[in-house]
Amino acid sequence: MTIQLGDTAPDFTQDSTIGPLSFHEYLGNSWGVLFSHPKDYTPVCTTELGAVAKLKPEFDRRNVKVIGLSVGTLADHEGWSKDIAETQGMAPNFPIIADTDRKVANLYGMIHPNASDTMTVRSVFIIGPDKKLKLSLTYPASTGRNFAEILRTIDSLQLTASHKLATPADWQPGEDCIIVPSVTNEEAKTLFPAGFTEHKPYLRTTPQPAGS
Ligand code: BEZ
Repeated sequence: MTIQLGDTAPDFTQDSTIGPLSFHEYLGNSWGVLFSHPKDYTPVCTTELGAVAKLKPEFDRRNVKVIGLSVGTLADHEGWSKDIAETQGMAPNFPIIADTDRKVANLYGMIHPNASDTMTVRSVFIIGPDKKLKLSLTYPASTGRNFAEILRTIDSLQLTASHKLATPADWQPGEDCIIVPSVTNEEAKTLFPAGFTEHKPYLRTTPQPAGS
């Protein structure tokens, strides 16, 4: 199955390191990040899980619940977590799904048979409080993900969910934003009291609204 942007993220209940996890119920009104790992006890995944554990306060600050997934047993997840603590300085402090029957991996299309018919790719799904898919990324097993980029995309998604704005290439929080084309210049004067610059009729920028 392929899940596309705007689709409702499929619900499921599966075992995890915090007990049986019912996805939609667990997310509640939070944003969610569901990310897959090809296999337990593998080097790149070990570094990724340690990196996300260290960034947990950043996810919390954005009201985002992070959920890992690997096609391994709970016993393997638990043993591996000790290795992650030992080698990365922090054990995973978020649930990791034990997707032994690949229920969730299949539901979310995390297995790409021409890459590997047994291991999941490195998928990232960002889900909004409305349970709709807002962003997905697919990395190969050989390339560890950049979680600062995932936080950056969450900042953009949260900003643009509540303002008629988009964010430009390489945008970082606090930098100017783009006014979406459907907003007229008259409307922009009201919506963006800090003012805006019209570089071209279709390219108008404004400071990021305060408090957003
Ligand atoms: C890793 O996480 O290190 C990894 C997993 C599968 C294949 C290659 C690397």
